[in-house]
Parts: sequence; structure tokens; C-alpha cells
Amino acid sequence: MMGKKTPRFFVHNWRNVPFLKFPLVSKVLESVYYLYEKALMQQVMHGVKPTHLAVILDGNRRYARFLGLESWMGHKYGAEKVKEFLEWCWEVGIKMVTLYAFSTENFNRPQKEVEEIMKLAEEKFHEVIENWKIHKYKVRIKAIGRLDMLPESVRNAIRRAEEATKDYDRYFLNVAIGYGGRAEIVDAVRKIAQKVANGKLRIDDIDERVIEEHLYTVGMPDPDLIIRTSGEERLSGFLLWQSAYSELYFCGVYWPEIRKIDLLRAVRDYQNRERRFGR
Ligand code: FPP
Ligand code: MG
Repeated sequence: MMGKKTPRFFVHNWRNVPFLKFPLVSKVLESVYYLYEKALMQQVMHGVKPTHLAVILDGNRRYARFLGLESWMGHKYGAEKVKEFLEWCWEVGIKMVTLYAFSTENFNRPQKEVEEIMKLAEEKFHEVIENWKIHKYKVRIKAIGRLDMLPESVRNAIRRAEEATKDYDRYFLNVAIGYGGRAEIVDAVRKIAQKVANGKLRIDDIDERVIEEHLYTVGMPDPDLIIRTSGEERLSGFLLWQSAYSELYFCGVYWPEIRKIDLLRAVRDYQNRERRFGR
């Protein structure tokens, strides 16, 4: 089922609305957005920032269709947007970002689309190594998911990106690829069961900490804030265990058209919430 329907005119990036592209109109709008962005940034910088932000990049195909392009083309724009988005996160000072790039269910999409996404993923992991900003901000890269389901070329690119950034510890970027929240829990249960079978672990010793230690995210803090774009309002199994107390933020823009103000609004919203963790 689709999420809350917001009229597209009001939510999408005005840069894609033909009559707003007239030079004078767009100049005025650019200036208004610039000032609004600065004001939001000021506000956000005074509050507590989420340590771990997780993002469900959604709406790539709808964006492409909206522009009259083949739907898989949306992933190209989506992948381009990732770079920009990460820089905003680092500017705000968000330590850890986890991106949901490809789910285990996404393998069931048309072969051409899966191939295009895999090609893009490989390209992006290669680019990471050459991207000076990754080195400037000392960003450690990690892929999480059933990586053995990915083509070898993608696995190699991941290995190279992880290796090239393994000593960095200022910022962290996790890419959930071939990831499913239930699959992650199944994998953890299997590893734990194996230890019990080998006599390395007693059933009575299994607690939340033991489960966490067998998830792909071992050693990472739980996400404080999860953003999903495109107007869909569900988590689709993203960080199923880890999201128990995460704040959720849904925004109407398709992923490729996300703007800095959308991120800043999400963080501002997060700062205005009272987190009780069930207390
Ligand atoms: C969701 O939009 C997007 C995806 C399933 C794929 C995203 C992948 C990339 C941007 C490339 C890889 C990027 C990195 C960082 C390695 P959708 O296809 O569900 O679009 P829809 O909701 O409009 O159908
Ligand atoms: Mg989608």
C-alpha cells in the first residue's frame, strides 16, 4: 500500500517544475532556499545531533518515471545524490550514516535493473577510494548484508573500499546491500546455534547482548534517527532489531531530489522529540 499521499506539486523539488525554471523565478527561489538553509543549519547546530543516522533511499524509479525516463535510470540519479547527501551529514557532524541501498527482496526485480544497480554499486565503491573527501573526513566504510549473494566484482569493490578506509575512525559509512532485517536475525541465530552445538555457548547465556554481537552491526550504536524518502511510511525490515527505539522521519521527496533542507528538517524534528527508550 502507498504511504500518505501528498500532492506532488507541493513536495517535489521546485527545480523540476518547468515554469519555476525561468531565470528570474529560479533566482528568487534559490535565494529564499539559501537563506532558509542557513537558518535551519544555525538551528540544528545548536541542538544534539543524532550519532547514527540510517536512511532508506526510496523513490528512484518513480523519480525517473516522473521525468519520463526508463525507471532504472532513477538509480543513476539516486547514486549521484548519495555523495552530496553524505557531505551534508558530515557538515552537520553526524558520526555514522547507514544507507539502505539494496535489500534481499530487491534481487527479485527485473534482471536488467538488478544488473544496473550492481554496476552502480561497484562504481560507487571504487569511487570511494579515489574520493578525497572520504580521506579528508576519515570515513570508514563497511558493507552489511548477505554479501555472498552479490556478484564477485561488487564484493571485490567492497573489499577494496573497506581495506582502504580500515584505519579511519572519525566518520562511519555503512552500506546495507543484499540486506534484510529478518535475514540478519536468521544469520545471527544460526551463528549462535552453531556455538551452542559446539559447546562454546550455553543456552542460558543467550541474552540481548549475545544477539547484538552476532548481528552484522556488531559494535555499532543503534540508529538514533531513520529517514525514509518518497512518502512511504514503513521500515521494510531495515535494521529490524536495531531500530527498536529509533526515531522515524518520513519525507515526501523522492530520493534523487532530496535537498539539504530535508535533512536539516529531519534533524530539527529529531531534536524536538523527547526520547524515553520505554522509560
Ligand atoms: C529505491 O528506490 C532504491 C533502490 C532499491 C536502489 C538504490 C541503489 C542505488 C542508489 C545504487 C547503489 C548505491 C550505493 C550507495 C552503493 P526504488 O527502486 O524502490 O524506487 P520506487 O520506490 O520509486 O519504485
Ligand atoms: Mg521503493
